Amino acid sequence: MKTPAYKDPKKPVEARVRDLLRRMTLEEKAAQLMQRTIGRDVNPENVGPDHPFDPTVGSVLTFTGGAAARNAFQRIAVEKTRLGIPIVWGYDVIHGWRTCFPVPLAQGCSFDPSLAEKSCRVAAEECWADGGVDWTFSPMVEVGHDPRWGRNVEGYGEDPFANGVFAAAAVRGYQGRRRADLKKPGRIAACLKHFVGYSASEGGRDYNYTDISARALREWYLPPFEAGVRAGARTVMSSFNCIDGTPAVADKSTLTDVLRGEWGFDGFVVSDWAAVSQLRIQRFSSDPAVQTLAALGAGNDMDMCDDVYRNVPALVKAGRLPVRVLDRAVARVLRVKFELGLFENPCVPELPRGKTCRLPASLDLAAECARSCAVLLRNEGGVLPLDPKKVKRLALVGPYADSGLALLGCWRGMCSEDRSETPTLFDEAARFFPGAKIELERGVVAGADECVATAAYEKPDRAAIARAVRAARRADVVVVALGETGRSSGECRSRRDICLSPAQEALVDALAATGKPLVGLVLAGRPLAFPKTAEKLDALLWLWQGGSRGAQAAWELVTGIANPSGRLAMTFPRAVGQIPVYYNAQPRSREGYDEYQDLVGENGPWFPFGAGLSYTTVEYGKVRLAARPRSGLRAEVRVKNAGKRAGAETVIWYLSDPESTSTQPIRRVVGFGKIPLEPGESKTVRLSLSRKDLAAMQPDGTRRFEPGEFEVSASLRSSARVDVR
Ligand code: NOJ
Repeated sequence: MKTPAYKDPKKPVEARVRDLLRRMTLEEKAAQLMQRTIGRDVNPENVGPDHPFDPTVGSVLTFTGGAAARNAFQRIAVEKTRLGIPIVWGYDVIHGWRTCFPVPLAQGCSFDPSLAEKSCRVAAEECWADGGVDWTFSPMVEVGHDPRWGRNVEGYGEDPFANGVFAAAAVRGYQGRRRADLKKPGRIAACLKHFVGYSASEGGRDYNYTDISARALREWYLPPFEAGVRAGARTVMSSFNCIDGTPAVADKSTLTDVLRGEWGFDGFVVSDWAAVSQLRIQRFSSDPAVQTLAALGAGNDMDMCDDVYRNVPALVKAGRLPVRVLDRAVARVLRVKFELGLFENPCVPELPRGKTCRLPASLDLAAECARSCAVLLRNEGGVLPLDPKKVKRLALVGPYADSGLALLGCWRGMCSEDRSETPTLFDEAARFFPGAKIELERGVVAGADECVATAAYEKPDRAAIARAVRAARRADVVVVALGETGRSSGECRSRRDICLSPAQEALVDALAATGKPLVGLVLAGRPLAFPKTAEKLDALLWLWQGGSRGAQAAWELVTGIANPSGRLAMTFPRAVGQIPVYYNAQPRSREGYDEYQDLVGENGPWFPFGAGLSYTTVEYGKVRLAARPRSGLRAEVRVKNAGKRAGAETVIWYLSDPESTSTQPIRRVVGFGKIPLEPGESKTVRLSLSRKDLAAMQPDGTRRFEPGEFEVSASLRSSARVDVR
């Protein structure tokens, strides 16, 4: 019998898609648009006793975590169904599979997208070979303005430009540089999420309404997605929120007009979990038929774990859903399956874990990422770096001094918090202070499980603090590990306040009273606000959630083996009432007035976007600008390591438009680069901006170049103005 064209790998993908589509029944087409789960999750769509496995289903969100299980199901799909269409296996591989990298917000602070690309590559290789995953729901590229929102941890910070650069890097890491790379072993499809504006949830409350103007949509929320699409992302996830009153899953203007019309996206869109049926909760419609028509019609191709699209065949038969709308969605899903090479290689090789996961080079990369992400925010009197030779006794204190979970954070794939895989700060300390006695004291009483947000989970306890103080008095230096639990940030983990818990505040007070040098390390998945307490610390090093090798990196930084080079990718407020506070804000209407009566003289944030210290001193020369007639401007600046230690300087280029017909942000990032510098070394850093880059955002979300003066600043250390006509 002649092999059907869709099974012939030599035929072009589009011809294979067409051939397969014309062979499919309505039911088979509808099934391609549905996703089920398999494994530990207990949602009604989970394959289990009450919900038998349907091998014609388009996708499975796999909680089994195993290549063998995936292969077993996949064989049924390709061998026992009429057309043998392989299933695409999805999972949230957010910052690693078994090698855990720092959380994405931390990676944003590295300002080094090449590390993000490499970490995504390792994550892809591990999850594909070990977990049978060929599609990750990552990267999340949402611009976050509200640290109360738990999900900022999953994105790269508050800047749209930087989020776009990281989006492209992550896509390249997961998929490769060219579409043809997707077929290679260990490459998986990326998914840009959540399209679009979910991070604008009112009050930082998860799943809340979002009020997004046309301008804000274009200025903040869309750009990172555009960058990810241009880098070749093959899938996009629609979001839970509303855009101008239309739920995103049913919003044609973004899902079709922008995504496909303007950007030429030809992959597929998957809804977020149950977002189609949640149209009922959003009071759009409680009728599953209406929900299906709205989502599919808007351009939402696949329905995640919802079962609403089971209506599809009936809707087509009733003449309510044009078959071309259905075919369009199915073709998009099939296209990506062909591109992934699933028809030729439906199963993944079942290799021993030791050959696929936690390879020495991957763990070294995890350490490098963690070093590069940590941000030094305070270093009074140069207390850091510590000289291990001078430390005979070290008191290591705090609720996170011996916690693996606090290093891993949320969405940690199959990474284990067992100390054999994720050594804690305490586990690693002896290696870096070989001659010292190290005393561990939590100082805070914890519940049995780090499963609730910090304040509820920790209890102030006088006896625990007293023990910590006694250890501190005996020590030459005290290191206190503060922050929040590994489960305090992430989906559905918003906080009404972003303070330290009262228990941790009390602990810092007591330790500071000993007069011993006090180094604060913070493990957290969000900005926290405790400026007064932080003044009692001699040093403050923000480690975020650094992953499998976060503890090693922490001590390398503390002891000066490595030099801190992270810069904040998100503004830290002074107090929760200042939120939203972000660097690229619009100008105020009056100068010289305090914003709040109860923050007198403290208008600014606690730490601004871009903040971060180093053990060396970097000097900036003058920014030199040259206008290029009819084409934009060129900028350059010379940076010099004037200190005695090697380091890396993050040069962040900001653009300001001093006058324009529509008001512009005080400044916005238009470029950045991380420059390694040996002691005494100088380098010239350059930037080129087109008129399009200089164009001012208009109220309707378009950009228009307005001739006139522009100001360019390098890291707010040196700036210049130039007239561009
Ligand atoms: C819901 C989350 O919003 C989304 O980010 C995630 O990818 C899906 N669940 C699948 O786990």
